[in-house]
Amino acid sequence: MWLREVVEADIAPLHAIYGDPAATQHMPFAPRTLEQVADMVREARAAAAREPRLLYALAVLDAADQELIGTARLRIDAEQPHCAELRLGLRPDHWGRGMGTDLVRLLLGFGFKQLGLHRIWGARAPSNLPAQLAMLTAGMVEEGVLRHHVATPDGWRDSVIHAAVEDDWPGR
Ligand SMILES: CC(C)(COP(=O)(O)OP(=O)(O)OC[C@H]1O[C@@H](n2cnc3c(N)ncnc32)[C@H](O)[C@@H]1OP(=O)(O)O)[C@@H](O)C(=O)NCCC(=O)NCCS
Repeated sequence: MWLREVVEADIAPLHAIYGDPAATQHMPFAPRTLEQVADMVREARAAAAREPRLLYALAVLDAADQELIGTARLRIDAEQPHCAELRLGLRPDHWGRGMGTDLVRLLLGFGFKQLGLHRIWGARAPSNLPAQLAMLTAGMVEEGVLRHHVATPDGWRDSVIHAAVEDDWPGR
């Protein structure tokens, strides 16, 4: 599995994730249109050029054939630049084979070793069992619940916060 910067050519393969109702079920937004994904890619390109850089919106590639199979983001907190929020998603035909867990590990390694971060956290829906297990197995402990964190069409949704800090991260 590889990570690289997103490029304009990624819009259609990214839409296979961000436009998919199953993949976005636990994300804090409705499935995106192709045009909305194009806007996301443009924002990601602009963010990559900014100094200091606060957003790493990356494409996840299958190591075997370099196909785009997922998306991974680290958003650095401008006021606490040692902290970043992680988000990730894989195309549904790649779920359940350990790749989500590998992706969390890869992102933590990138954040801690290459970006010099100290704390990386992620929020998940309480019912998102694969995300829970992937983050726990990769060493992101559960820290607590943000009540009514996300507005959904069905009402307020809590988020469970996971985090790894550099001191106790298993991959250090
Ligand atoms: C979250 C996500 C990245 C996990 O990826 P994945 O490749 O399916 O995860 P893994 O195969 O590494 O599985 C992680 C764990 O969940 C379990 N799991 C996977 N799918 C499952 C399912 N449908 N039901 C129950 N358990 C499941 C696996 O057995 C594994 O458990 P283990 O560590 O005890 O073996 C993927 O489901 C996804 O992209 N979801 C949509 C976007 C999303 O929810 N992002 C996360 C927001 S925080």
